[in-house]
Amino acid sequence: MLKVDLKNTVINIPFDAYINDVKAIDAKIKGKTGAGNDFLGWTSWPKDYDKEEFERIKEAAKEIQDNYEVLVVAGIGGSYLGARCAIEALNGLFPKNKVQIIFIGNTLSSNYIAQVLDYLKDKNFAINVISKSGTTTETSVAFRLLKELLISKVGVERASKAIYATTDKARGALKTEANTMGYKTFVIPDDIGGRFSVLTAVGLLPIAVAGGDIDALMKGAADAMAEYDNDDVLTNPCYKYAVTRHYLYNNDKEVEMFVTYEPQMTQIGEWLKQLFGESEGKDGKGLFPTACTFSTDLHSMGQFIQEGTKLLFETNIVVEEPNLDVTINADKDNLDGLNFLAGKNVSYVNKKAFEGTLAAHVVDGEVPNIVISIPKLDAYNLGYLFFFFMKAVAMSAYLIDVNPFNQPGVEIYKKRMFTLLGKPGYTK
Ligand code: PA5
Repeated sequence: MLKVDLKNTVINIPFDAYINDVKAIDAKIKGKTGAGNDFLGWTSWPKDYDKEEFERIKEAAKEIQDNYEVLVVAGIGGSYLGARCAIEALNGLFPKNKVQIIFIGNTLSSNYIAQVLDYLKDKNFAINVISKSGTTTETSVAFRLLKELLISKVGVERASKAIYATTDKARGALKTEANTMGYKTFVIPDDIGGRFSVLTAVGLLPIAVAGGDIDALMKGAADAMAEYDNDDVLTNPCYKYAVTRHYLYNNDKEVEMFVTYEPQMTQIGEWLKQLFGESEGKDGKGLFPTACTFSTDLHSMGQFIQEGTKLLFETNIVVEEPNLDVTINADKDNLDGLNFLAGKNVSYVNKKAFEGTLAAHVVDGEVPNIVISIPKLDAYNLGYLFFFFMKAVAMSAYLIDVNPFNQPGVEIYKKRMFTLLGKPGYTK
C-alpha cells in the first residue's frame, strides 16, 4: 500500500483551510467541468480500458518476444517516458530479457541516431512507433530512417509485419501510413493526453514486450483509482500531497525535487518532470520539477540542497523492500576499515543513507521533505504510483488555476524550428 508521510514538511500544512477548495476541484474533475475537460479519460481508464485491445497487446508482445531480438520504440515526451520509466523500474539497468528494448525518436542527435542504426544493422528487430499526432518531428525522422534500414534488410512485406504503430484511432499521417502499409495498430484514446497515457497501449506494449506484468500494473492503478476516489483532503493521501506542495509553493518554494534512492527509478523522475512540468508550468505559474537519484547526487547536488538558496522542497519516492540484495562480508585484514558493516546488507546501508539525509536536510537544512513509500518495486505498486501522481497533478494544477491538460508552450519551439527548416506552411 502506498503511504504518504508528511511529518517532515518543516511548516505545518493547514489542511482544514483547503477542505472546500479540494471538494470543489474534485467535483470539477469528476463532473468534467474544468479547463481541459476533454482530456479526463485517464481518470476511469484503469477500469474502463479496452479489454479487447489489451488482449491484442499481449498477443503482439508474445509475437515480438518469439520473433525478434530487439524492439525499437520510437516516440518522445508522453509517447516515450512512461514506457521507459516502467521498463527500467521493473527490470533494472542490466535486464536479462529475451528482447532488448531500445528507445529512439526522442532526440534529433545525429550521433545517437547513427549509433542506433549502426547497432541495428546486424540485429533482427521490430519497431513500435508511437505518436498521437503522427507528425512529431523527432519520432517521424527516426521512424523514416529505421524503416529504410529494415526494408533494406528484410524487404517491404516483412518490414510491414515487423512494424507496430500506436497512434490516434482515425487521424494523422501515421494512421494513414499504417492503413496503407498494413501495420498492426494500437490506439491512443482521444481523451487521454500524452503524459497521462502510460497505462494505454503507449506504455503497455513496450512494457509487455519487456516482460512486465501489465495485468498487475492495471490492477495497481485500479486499486489506486478506488482509494483516491474521495473528495476529503483530510483522509485522501493523494490530495494531501497535492495540497502540501501547493502550500509550500505559496510559501516561497519554487522547486520540487523528486528523489529516489534507486538508479533504476531515475527515469521515474523524468516521467514526473514531464507530468508536473507540462501540467503546471503555464500562465507564469507552477513549481519547477526536478529530480535526483541519491546517494549518487548527494555528491553533487547535496551541497546546494543542504546549504544553498532555500527555494526547494524534496519529494522522496521510497521503496521499502529491495528486489535484490547483497551482503557485505567481514574481511580479516579490514584494510578498508569497513568491518563495522560486516554482515549488513547494502539495502540496510541505503536505508540509513536515506534516514540520515532526511534528518540532515530537514533538521539541519530546514528543507521540507515529503516521503511517499511503496512496499516493493513491482508492476502492481508502479501502477498504483502512476495513478497517484496523475490524480495529484490534476488537483495541484487546478489549485493554481491552470489547465492541467494542455501544453501550449511546447508548440513555440516547434514553430520556430519548422520556419528555420522550411517546413511547408511555416514562413519567416
Ligand atoms: O504530453 C504531450 O502531449 C507531449 O509530450 C507529447 O506526448 C509529445 O510531444 C509526443 O507527441 P505525439 O504523441 O503526438 O508524437
